[in-house]
Amino acid sequence: MNKPYVYSTRKLPEHLTARYKNNLNLYMWESETEPVPPEVLKQELEKADGVLTTLTDQVDDQLLDHSSHLKIVANMAVGFDNIDVDSAEKRNVIVTNTPDVLTDTTADLAFTLLTAAARRVVEAAEYVKEGQWGKWSPFLLAGSDVHHKKLGIVGMGRIGEAVAKRAKGFDMDVAYYNRTRKAEAEEAIGVRYESFDNLIESSDFVMCLVPLTKETTKLFNTEVFKKMKHSSIFINVSRGATVDEDALYAALQSGEIKGAGLDVFENEPISPSHPLLSLKQVVCLPHIGSASIETREAMITLCLENLSNVLSGKEAVTPVN
Ligand code: DGY
Repeated sequence: MNKPYVYSTRKLPEHLTARYKNNLNLYMWESETEPVPPEVLKQELEKADGVLTTLTDQVDDQLLDHSSHLKIVANMAVGFDNIDVDSAEKRNVIVTNTPDVLTDTTADLAFTLLTAAARRVVEAAEYVKEGQWGKWSPFLLAGSDVHHKKLGIVGMGRIGEAVAKRAKGFDMDVAYYNRTRKAEAEEAIGVRYESFDNLIESSDFVMCLVPLTKETTKLFNTEVFKKMKHSSIFINVSRGATVDEDALYAALQSGEIKGAGLDVFENEPISPSHPLLSLKQVVCLPHIGSASIETREAMITLCLENLSNVLSGKEAVTPVN
């Protein structure tokens, strides 16, 4: 029997793909860093039974029109807003993501971003490297405390819960807003549910961890930033489009809020001339939430497991539809 044709939009390491060679005919785009050109992806989709995508590949209705016998799109991310799941469903294509394996790694980064923004870590490191370090002074690069402050988590999924645990270790007061109450997490971690407005108005740190959907697009806008404390710091580790970036810039510039830590942007990579990058009180990272070697390897392996299962007639491990 012919092995199923699988196309990966990025080059994957041999030590991870080797054990799938017996049951998958795996073809890959030649670069690990450069995304596959859309024309190549279209041609590959015509042949493919399965495809491994990343969050920078837009798998929309038009692209799926080029597939004739595609059975699975395995997306190497927990978020799947880059995939038109309804269009995939219409064509009986299974979509899978990579939850769980990245939870702790992403929570580590989210909390790192929070502490870095609060304590001005990046600004301070640049200050030393630029040779600006002169005399000690009482308020030199003084930031905001993290301990005993209030963290408001918007979007209490797996990553939210993992962030809450870390925050509790820092003696923070942790509250959350979510579409549904998380009674178990409230009990186990000691977090409180609050209405969106309450949370926004009273938190010292507001962290966005919602998935990107129609409802959450530009959830953080002028009106919301106005409700936050002037001393608050906004952290985003979900998707850039959940934030109106012009409104965020204006809020930071006018002192409506104090600072921000951003791992995600509406357009990635963000342009070096983007006004947000000119602000010292903003820590910007290049979407590295899940970027540890261990976790990226686990994400690739989970994608390959999903592909291998579905293409041999078994259940997907982590289906989203
Ligand atoms: C995800 O998995 O959705 C993350 O954003 C990738 O780092």
